[in-house]
Amino acid sequence: MPVDVILGLQWGDEGKGKIVDYLADQYKVVCRFQGGPNAGHTLYINQRKFVLHTIPSGIFRTNVINVIGNGVVLDPITLEKEINTIRPEIPDLFERLLLSNKTQLILPTHRWIDLASETAKGKEKIGSTLRGIGPCYMDKTGRNGMRVGDLYEADWKNKYEVLKEKHLQFIRQFPDVDFNLQEQEKIWFESIETLRKIKVISTEYYLHNLLAKGENILAEGAQGTMLDVDHGTYPYVTSSNTITAGVCSGLGIAPQHIRKVIGIAKAYCTRVGSGPFPSELLDAVGEKLRREGSEFGSTTGRPRRCGWLDLVQLKYAIILNGVTELCITKIDVLNSFDNLNVATSYTVHNEIRTEVPFDMSTIDKVQFNSFKGWNCSLNENRAFNTLPEQVLNFIHQIEEFTKVKINYLSTGPGREELIVE
Ligand code: GDP
Ligand code: IMO
Ligand code: MG
Repeated sequence: MPVDVILGLQWGDEGKGKIVDYLADQYKVVCRFQGGPNAGHTLYINQRKFVLHTIPSGIFRTNVINVIGNGVVLDPITLEKEINTIRPEIPDLFERLLLSNKTQLILPTHRWIDLASETAKGKEKIGSTLRGIGPCYMDKTGRNGMRVGDLYEADWKNKYEVLKEKHLQFIRQFPDVDFNLQEQEKIWFESIETLRKIKVISTEYYLHNLLAKGENILAEGAQGTMLDVDHGTYPYVTSSNTITAGVCSGLGIAPQHIRKVIGIAKAYCTRVGSGPFPSELLDAVGEKLRREGSEFGSTTGRPRRCGWLDLVQLKYAIILNGVTELCITKIDVLNSFDNLNVATSYTVHNEIRTEVPFDMSTIDKVQFNSFKGWNCSLNENRAFNTLPEQVLNFIHQIEEFTKVKINYLSTGPGREELIVE
């Protein structure tokens, strides 16, 4: 009766969507437990690209139920667009998509506040996706939020108006920030009607009953460990707990049900938005990683910052999440590099450190281990033991440093481009 977890170990975009889609058919249910439409999870189904923002990445697997958990913040507008894009492929979508009655709703004014707050921060801005995520979670913890279950109460429009008015009082401080509220409200109310087509449940009882029957559940994380609101590079983080602990609060599942934690990391590192990134490459090598890896945001299209794999950071993420299996993605992006580096320690205030410091921006220098690249395609490889020696050396260094086994190696964006141990 286990719950397995798939989540990101870096700054997001590790390829979680692809791996969830690959493994989903081994589970009865796939659940999103946190985040919102700041996420962009890319799947290739029959050579066609789909980017999911709110719907769990198990939706393309026939017979798999997909649950949007209470820990998620949901924008009905993006959800409606997403449904319209994938519906032609998934005629039984509404039979396989369920929604928690406690999921928080993103209002148009949440997006407006996000925009106003970021504009006010100027150079200090977080680099938010401007999807209203932070303001919505602030209303949740401030106990002002509006939840899916509220839509089924007679006074739901009044509740909307009261919250909107609170938001407008705040927004009045920023008269220069432009936002067409009337237009956005119209679309929002229309999209609520689509939302009503989704069956609403209490995830607590629904998932508990499934576990009692011995069914398997897969929890899909969004963002990555270094964007966790408590343990990430605060304040340059998102507003939810992206780590394994978030599964329990974001779905209503007790911790003893969690079995495997599959941590996803790229063979290098990327980050979108502001904040410290110790192994970042601001040179031609970084540009090559961006080019080879097509590193442009799935949600905003922004160029992603690129750098070498950081083993100190990775080990921190493994500890926080209790990772039991590692999946390294985008190894193919390194195919044409003569030399590769991985970060193994930091210098902070003239001291060598192998732990992530309180503030990563205090790192003065990063020490790297260098390797020879493999300079060949990995397309033909379907098993670990057929991989070039240099790839195996790279993998063993990661395993040795982190003390966790790499069970999955992703060699391309397609569903089947995956080597499984
Ligand atoms: P997610 O947010 O963690 O689901 O990741 P994104 O979808 O935002 O970004 C990952 C990108 O890398 C997507 O464009 C994927 O199609 C692509 N991708 C995933 N795995 C691989 C891989 O092994 N190799 C290559 N070249 N691309 C991959
Ligand atoms: P997936 O699930 C990468 C980043 C933003 C910004 C910070 C805060 O696709 O991996 P927010 O919109 O939450 O206020 O932004 O977090 N960010 C992500 N970066 N992948 C994501 O999701 C992200 N979701 C948020 O770029 O720096
Ligand atoms: Mg993404």
